[in-house]
Amino acid sequence: MQEAEDTGRALFSGIAGGYDAQNRVMTLGLDVWWRRRALRTLGRCIGDGQCARVLDIASGTADFAIAAARMFPDVQTTGVDVTPEMLEIGRCKVERSGLSERIVLETGDAEKLDFADGSFDCALCAFGFRNFPHRARALEEARRVLKPGGHLLVLEFFRIESRLLAAFTSVWLRFTSALAARGAKSEYDYLRTSIDRMVPAEAFIDEAKSAGFKCVASAFYAPACRCLCFRVSSP
Ligand SMILES: C[S@@+](CC[C@H](N)C(=O)[O-])C[C@H]1O[C@@H](n2cnc3c(N)ncnc32)[C@H](O)[C@@H]1O
Repeated sequence: MQEAEDTGRALFSGIAGGYDAQNRVMTLGLDVWWRRRALRTLGRCIGDGQCARVLDIASGTADFAIAAARMFPDVQTTGVDVTPEMLEIGRCKVERSGLSERIVLETGDAEKLDFADGSFDCALCAFGFRNFPHRARALEEARRVLKPGGHLLVLEFFRIESRLLAAFTSVWLRFTSALAARGAKSEYDYLRTSIDRMVPAEAFIDEAKSAGFKCVASAFYAPACRCLCFRVSSP
């Protein structure tokens, strides 16, 4: 397990420079649309509720934080990630987008967030939970830093139980990762194995329930890719 944790962290510092381009190739650009679509779902779940302070967990190169700032013009977002190289690229993008006043990126661990209880109205996490060594801790932390009634939006590749869809996804990832990584095979092997190690979406919903969340929206975007929106269900 320790080896998998180290590989995960080292991986993102190694691929930070090519991460966005590789993402676009591997998903045929759909990841951009998935983030926007997920944020629209969050907007519907919030309704007339409060969404002034947002936390983007495992913010990486800040795509979700930037998309959120564009979709919700009054929101202030803090992005946290354990990989400084990913955040550095994120900071350049935030500056280029003219959003430096509304997005702050900080080094931080999803399993030990450096924020007081109830600091945020919403938390986002795109393609992060699969990489956390202890998901339950990260869920509890997300729950702790959210206000009562706050929302957690998760966009993730979950393990697929249908053998046919799993085989299709495996072939797809093998093909597109070879294209995207241009030979950096071991790095993209990590993506395939991290999806295999992830729980199916229904099991994740149960884990979130144990951490004090209620699932209020669920959408299927592609084999393996699901959007889940949770509301804090208990004090
Ligand atoms: C697949 S990337 C997702 C980045 C971004 N959210 C996106 O939508 O593209 C996963 C990110 O999780 C980060 N990460 C891994 N473990 C973490 C942890 N314990 N706490 C915070 N970030 C973590 C990695 O550094 C990496 O930037």
